[in-house]
Amino acid sequence: MTFDRSIKIAPSILAADFANFGAECAAVEAQGADWVHVDVMDGHFVPNITFGPATCAAIRPHIKGVMDVHLMIAPVDPYIDAFAQAGADVITAHVEAGPHIHRTLQAIRGAGAKAGVALNPGTPAEAVAHLLDLTDLICVMTVNPGFGGQKFIDMSDKIRTLRAMIGDRPVHIEIDGGVDAKTAPLVAQAGADVLVAGSAVFRGGSVANPAPYGENIRAIRQAADGTYV
Ligand code: DX5
Ligand code: ZN
Repeated sequence: MTFDRSIKIAPSILAADFANFGAECAAVEAQGADWVHVDVMDGHFVPNITFGPATCAAIRPHIKGVMDVHLMIAPVDPYIDAFAQAGADVITAHVEAGPHIHRTLQAIRGAGAKAGVALNPGTPAEAVAHLLDLTDLICVMTVNPGFGGQKFIDMSDKIRTLRAMIGDRPVHIEIDGGVDAKTAPLVAQAGADVLVAGSAVFRGGSVANPAPYGENIRAIRQAADGTYV
């Protein structure tokens, strides 16, 4: 993985056909996705359950590019090696998921993956002030995690604060939740470079009819690029 601040669109397979993940990942990549975002939920940290490391390992061969694994689980540390062995390029843990996020980020890098840290909407930017040199990605949640298709919560001030805190460090700012062609310009302007989108990418298309995925990805990218400063 090379670092740059260009806009990257990361479809979330939470909005894909769960019986057909391999083909869905290949379809969104063929239609222009930069990364594939994989949402892991445990029914404890968040009120919904998706899947675990075995499913990530099964999906991995169907993704050519970056596999971006978002862990909405607590505890995190006992499962880091399993997700790294499943082939995750990025493993993101929530700052709210336990008392030792510093140790968690060290462990993710130690397992050979890029280390991401996610912030719920109620958590301030300052929560990562002492983690900036330990992290490769900060995920700003623009919904309360647990479900796709929720309404975007404007976190532009937090994104701007984080962008200033990051300075020249090679740290991505990722936005997750309610991103579409309308909200993408707000977050891109504030300094985000990785835009996760579930419903806004998968709506209207399917593995049998993937062209809408491409149209949706292009619409988000063009909206974001148009105002990127
Ligand atoms: C929310 C997940 C998101 C979600 C995004 O808990 O982390 O990745 O799937 O879905 P949309 O784009 O539909 O809000
Ligand atoms: Zn996510």
